[in-house]
Amino acid sequence: MTPFAVVIFLLGLSSLATAANFTQVFEWPNELDFEWPSEESRTQALEDGTFKPVKIQPRYMAVYEARLFLNLFKEDGVPASLVSLPTSSESSSPPKLTPFPSWDFHLNGSGNCDKIHRAEGMEVDSDGRLWVLDQGNPDSNCSSKLWIFNLINNETELIHRFSFDEYFHDLVLDETANGTFAYIARWMESHVVVFSLERNESWIVDTPKVEVNSIALSTKDQEPRHLYLARSGFKELYSIPVAALHNGNRTTEPRLIENWAADNSYRMLMDSHGTLYSGFMYENYTSTWNTSRPFLEQSFYQVAGLESAWPFTFSLDQNATFWMTVFDDVNMPRFRLLKAAVAAKSYIYNSPECPGSCHKNDYA
Ligand SMILES: *[C@@H]1O[C@H](CO)[C@@H](O)[C@H](O)[C@H]1NC(C)=O
Ligand SMILES: *[C@@H]1O[C@H](CO)[C@@H](O)[C@H](O)[C@H]1NC(C)=O
Ligand SMILES: *[C@@H]1O[C@H](CO)[C@@H](O)[C@H](O)[C@H]1NC(C)=O
Ligand SMILES: *[C@@H]1O[C@H](CO)[C@@H](O)[C@H](O)[C@H]1NC(C)=O
Ligand SMILES: *[C@@H]1O[C@H](CO)[C@@H](O)[C@H](O)[C@H]1NC(C)=O
Ligand SMILES: *[C@@H]1O[C@H](CO)[C@@H](O)[C@H](O)[C@H]1NC(C)=O
Ligand SMILES: *[C@@H]1O[C@H](CO)[C@@H](O)[C@H](O)[C@H]1NC(C)=O
Ligand SMILES: *[C@@H]1O[C@H](CO)[C@@H](O)[C@H](O)[C@H]1NC(C)=O
Ligand SMILES: *[C@@H]1O[C@H](CO)[C@@H](O)[C@H](O)[C@H]1NC(C)=O
Ligand SMILES: *[C@@H]1O[C@H](CO)[C@@H](O)[C@H](O)[C@H]1NC(C)=O
Repeated sequence: MTPFAVVIFLLGLSSLATAANFTQVFEWPNELDFEWPSEESRTQALEDGTFKPVKIQPRYMAVYEARLFLNLFKEDGVPASLVSLPTSSESSSPPKLTPFPSWDFHLNGSGNCDKIHRAEGMEVDSDGRLWVLDQGNPDSNCSSKLWIFNLINNETELIHRFSFDEYFHDLVLDETANGTFAYIARWMESHVVVFSLERNESWIVDTPKVEVNSIALSTKDQEPRHLYLARSGFKELYSIPVAALHNGNRTTEPRLIENWAADNSYRMLMDSHGTLYSGFMYENYTSTWNTSRPFLEQSFYQVAGLESAWPFTFSLDQNATFWMTVFDDVNMPRFRLLKAAVAAKSYIYNSPECPGSCHKNDYA
């Protein structure tokens, strides 16, 4: 911990409650619905219980050009866990969810290991490819997979099968001169899974005593680059240098940075200027830390009366737009999509005014 690190958390302070000006894009007054192949297939699915609209819960988000992708929590009654919707619409009613790439890719009936079982974490790389983690299904002996889709033609570019199944929880992408790597978190596991695109290989690097929850990667121009890890069930935020994930060593020593104000950061995201965003289970706000300065948590967005375990999903697009969904388990409208212009893109990109190394990384 840096000796001069300070934690001043201004919970409930309204002047900080909106650090960006969000506008509402869509609001779904009722439950979310899918774009079905036919009205008959929808009626049939409602009748046989394979579609229960009340079960739909968004968990992860990614945006590419005019399309927004969501991962829905997969359980009985949710027929597809990877869907897309347009980022704007002429229609007065909010858009429906379209299974991506098509209905055919989603498990319909009993085990088929070539389908998408449960999508749990996504990222779009700088070449316009969508990377999707898929938990697999132990009941049908389907191991977990990493799918890479080309968003120009919607085709599958690669499927990597892991040697384990279940418990994925988000990924980040590290595009280096030596190749592209994915760093993957798994619920409650004291390790990070590393995947090398060029080698089509994956391996595990232990993070002793730190069961990883959410993860984020420092900006491209910060040297050395670090992976931030939020500890599951705790407030603690750690970091490890990414070099430790591909130097052949299978263990690392995470360094404690500071504590967030709340437990269980389930989603973190870094922007290209070094602002780290985080959402917390059962909390009605998201917060930020400017990683170019000593740790200082600030409220970014708050919602009155929000009650849900997983209230927000958020992501940055290529145009420096911050997209956020707000999900309320109890009150209607259940689901809203907001956006705000921010000055930065996602950590995948260099910040425009910062082509070299202009962010200090003293606080990793
Ligand atoms: C939000 O809008 C207000 C009023 O238009 C403006 O003063 C403020 O600077 C804006 N904040 C951001 C972060 O753009
Ligand atoms: C980003 O900006 C480009 C050019 O200004 C535009 O063509 C594209 O549709 C924008 N993407 C999004 C997601 O708004
Ligand atoms: C699922 O499979 C059933 C029977 O094979 C078929 O009738 C139905 O149309 C399929 N549903 C979708 C959404 O593909
Ligand atoms: C899964 O694999 C185990 C061990 O190989 C086997 O006993 C079991 O029958 C398999 N289950 C299914 C659904 O294939
Ligand atoms: C890819 O899918 C989107 C809808 O998700 C569609 O608008 C687009 O035309 C598709 N592109 C191709 C090349 O099929
Ligand atoms: C990548 O590895 C998977 C095994 O995880 C294999 O099935 C697949 O064929 C490989 N793809 C390529 C392009 O090498
Ligand atoms: C690429 O690999 C070489 C040799 O392992 C290493 O010295 C260098 O730092 C790596 N570069 C990046 C950008 O990771
Ligand atoms: C591997 O990492 C551990 C923990 O950071 C360190 O103690 C050990 O010296 C490293 N081993 C090698 C061979 O680099
Ligand atoms: C983050 O801190 C740096 C260094 O103090 C500063 O230059 C930058 O403007 C800050 N970023 C934001 C978004 O406030
Ligand atoms: C968020 O919840 C806290 C307590 O849980 C409450 O004090 C605060 O007023 C809520 N925020 C808003 C905007 O309602």
